[in-house]
Amino acid sequence: MRTAIYPGSFDPVTCGHLDIIERASKLFDKLIVLVSVNPLKQTCFTREERIEFIRRVTTHLTNIQVDSFDGLLTDYFKKSGANVIVKGLRAMSDFEYEFQMSLVNKDLCCNAETVFLPSDLAGTFLSSSMVKQIALFNGDISSYVPTEIEEDIKRGVQRIASDKNKKEIL
Ligand code: PNS
Repeated sequence: MRTAIYPGSFDPVTCGHLDIIERASKLFDKLIVLVSVNPLKQTCFTREERIEFIRRVTTHLTNIQVDSFDGLLTDYFKKSGANVIVKGLRAMSDFEYEFQMSLVNKDLCCNAETVFLPSDLAGTFLSSSMVKQIALFNGDISSYVPTEIEEDIKRGVQRIASDKNKKEIL
């Protein structure tokens, strides 16, 4: 059985992420969508919210597991018995960083092969940060995030914006 891991912050999951999830789920027997929990990095949405958003927008996919981790990706990779790490590439600007990460992961774990999937056209300019910024100023995010989570994202961003101690997250 070929198992792939798609890791990311998913703060929040966007249509660009969902496109990668749907395509990767067809390429592998099982896809673990892995929510990274970095204690040094503040996020707009909690681990539980990010996981629940992904679960809610992937109910149509049968070979998906959603999990979270707070260590090295390669440690999770070894423990899970996965074969491949999947990453989405939006533009050439993503490539340098992602290429470096793939080399580090391979160095830490020689079985950790990374497969890059190019984003679809619509996802090329899309990022979670942009979605949060647009939502902060009450812009229209409906074509950037799955409908099922749109209202929760708007509420979450406004919640952070109204907390003056957390404003810098956005
Ligand atoms: O969505 P993001 O923020 O681009 O995802 C980045 C992520 C979570 C995939 C990356 O930061 C990661 O793998 N973090 C775990 C720590 C790790 O293993 N780093 C690689 C060695 S420096």
